[in-house]
Amino acid sequence: MKSTPLRPLFLNLILITTCLPLAAQMNSRNTPLDGPRPEIFSPATIKRADALIKQMTPEEKLAQLNQLFLFAADPKIDAAVTKGQVGSLLFVTDPTEINRLQHLAVENSRLHIPLIFGFDVIHGFRTIFPVPLAMASSWDPETVTRAQTVAAAEARSVGIDWAFAPMLDIARDPRWGRIMEGAGEDPYLGSAIARAQVRGFQGPAIGTPDHVLACMKHFAGYGAAEGGRDYDASYISDAQLHNVYLQPFHAAVEAGVGSVMSAYMDLNDVPATGNHMLQTEVLRDDWHFQGFVVSDADAVKSLEKHGFAKDPADAALRAFNAGVNMEMAIDQTAYSTLPAAFQAKQITLAQIDAAVKPILEAKIQLGLFEHPYNDVPHSQQVLNDPAHRTEALHAAERSAVLLRNENALLPLSKTAYKHIAVIGPVADNKHDTIGSWAFQEDANEAVTLLEGLRTKVGQSAKVDYAQGVQVKRLYPSFFDAIFKEPKEADWTADQAKSEYDKALSLARSADLVVLTLGEKQDMSGEAASRSSLDLPGEQQKLLEAVTALGKPTVLVLLNGRPLNITWASEHVPAILEAWYPGTQGGNAVANLLFGDVVPGGKLPLSWPRDVGQIPINYSHNLTQDYTAQAKRYWNEPSTPLYPFGYGLSYSTFAFSNLKVAEPQNKVGQPIHVTIDVENTGSVAADEVAQLYVHQQYGNASRPVRELKGFRRVNLAPHAKTTVDFTVTPADLSYWSPASRTWTEDASTFDLWSGNSSAAELHTTFTRTR
Ligand code: NOJ
Repeated sequence: MKSTPLRPLFLNLILITTCLPLAAQMNSRNTPLDGPRPEIFSPATIKRADALIKQMTPEEKLAQLNQLFLFAADPKIDAAVTKGQVGSLLFVTDPTEINRLQHLAVENSRLHIPLIFGFDVIHGFRTIFPVPLAMASSWDPETVTRAQTVAAAEARSVGIDWAFAPMLDIARDPRWGRIMEGAGEDPYLGSAIARAQVRGFQGPAIGTPDHVLACMKHFAGYGAAEGGRDYDASYISDAQLHNVYLQPFHAAVEAGVGSVMSAYMDLNDVPATGNHMLQTEVLRDDWHFQGFVVSDADAVKSLEKHGFAKDPADAALRAFNAGVNMEMAIDQTAYSTLPAAFQAKQITLAQIDAAVKPILEAKIQLGLFEHPYNDVPHSQQVLNDPAHRTEALHAAERSAVLLRNENALLPLSKTAYKHIAVIGPVADNKHDTIGSWAFQEDANEAVTLLEGLRTKVGQSAKVDYAQGVQVKRLYPSFFDAIFKEPKEADWTADQAKSEYDKALSLARSADLVVLTLGEKQDMSGEAASRSSLDLPGEQQKLLEAVTALGKPTVLVLLNGRPLNITWASEHVPAILEAWYPGTQGGNAVANLLFGDVVPGGKLPLSWPRDVGQIPINYSHNLTQDYTAQAKRYWNEPSTPLYPFGYGLSYSTFAFSNLKVAEPQNKVGQPIHVTIDVENTGSVAADEVAQLYVHQQYGNASRPVRELKGFRRVNLAPHAKTTVDFTVTPADLSYWSPASRTWTEDASTFDLWSGNSSAAELHTTFTRTR
């Protein structure tokens, strides 16, 4: 179910810079405020924070707004913590060190206010789950919640109270490296995954034991970076902002998320971190968000680089006035100038109180005043909990997407193959199994694809490995210093030839080839954008040469973005997208390849044929000459290689009997839809029933179809079930650029249901006033 639409949001506020007086902006409001108010802090918490604020000096309050990175013990930071000059630290992960710093804060500062420790807990802490794009491919919010529940418990056990996740940036350009950190292209799926993550991190309420404060990021529009170049400006129309990019954030606010991270880039020429429209009008005024905003790392100081702020002091004022409560900084914060700004009467005490209040409320409700220290021996037990590995296995199995399976090559027979060749640069690398945004894993325990296959086949087959090619970035990643992967020395030309030949001769001698291609750990994530979607390095050459041998060949992809596999989609019999599957990746892939688990994941994005098709999201508008829509380019189809929502199974499914309970209904009423799904194959398997809607006419053009419901179901062979969906008025509302307000039209709507965005089973309903 989708949440209430964003309302009200005001077009002209988007165009106004932060400098205009609020009164001028208020005049633009044209719809009543009617969104729910998610109460995330209890009355007792609020009362206690108010009482504390009364005891604090302005300087003490402002100190709480500073957050600093700490990569290694630093006497300067110890001194600042001791004097109560810092509210939060990030990147400290050792539980003993966390306790030491917390003792300094609690015992020495005047009011004994504990620090809140933050960290990037993106897809696991010690146990690494599949990357977020993979988790979204499960189309299973329950699995997502369970994964983030484990991640939260592990992080909290070492004293980390706050996860800088979920990342809710809609991304429609796979050149952008951070597409891997989000849920893909769609606001409806993205909203469902957002709610599931908030619930996993925070539990039913902030302060639930063994959970952490969540931080939705990056607010907002970061995923639309021009050219897919990380940090570059985004230009997003008002309609796209409201109907697409802001939706998952609003869903997370309604799910009770406690904090927000501002984005780095300019949104329509106003930096997100100095953007009053985003951080105050949308977030607080329209959505009634009660938590706090932290800047992205050094994003406040970089307001100067944007050509927005004059100097660091001006940057601090602009971010503070826009609504950024806390500044995250690698070294000195620009917010350290705020006491002087207060002295100079540039900011008021009321503003300071409002800024510090939700930070204190979060600390209170998380229980940090009562329980500031972690229990180190207990944390080791939590981190080593085998149940967490079982969850990671389950998540990886549910995240993989079967893209192709000619002549039912998969599942592999357990007896037919005696010599298996595993080939490719990411097949036996722990880090490439784990993926980006993991720092606290025990890499040794990650199971590579090669290891997983060897365990699976045991003595029944020989499994040999050859890397074949070496894959590297042209420009190194700044994360290489933090990632623990030892850097491979560059191969000489002779070595490269001999490794390549070795791979081919291994393939020749085997009776099954598992080619494992994709991207290295540092090839996606932050600052990991690419101008191409080709398989990096010489992997395409290797792929074609190995495939030409004519052996039964399975291509397994480990990567964080769709890649150009158009050739493979025509020539390689089986393709499994495993993404970066995490700690249990190799075991999960082996279970899937041999049919102990049946793939049921679906793509959370449209998979382009090549880089030139970007953007190619399924929910585009219809225009002139509909029949030619699939042939907009004269050199290749305009359709994606694989549509959004697509994914095969080892079974087959039939959809029938699509029914709307109210084919004639009134604007403002919900609509009830049912569809029968039958497993027509011979194995028990999962299918994702999907529901798409299109408004035929109205106040503005609407996309050709939009996801408005989905459910992953498990069906025994030949079993049939009826899946029901409720399409709410909110689902049919949209922000219209024509009327500049939220709109729900009287119209006729198309409805499709099936197992991808190309679903054909169709009906209609009509809404009148
Ligand atoms: C920068 C990234 O953009 C953000 O996602 C992350 O949470 C912070 N650094 C902290 O590491």
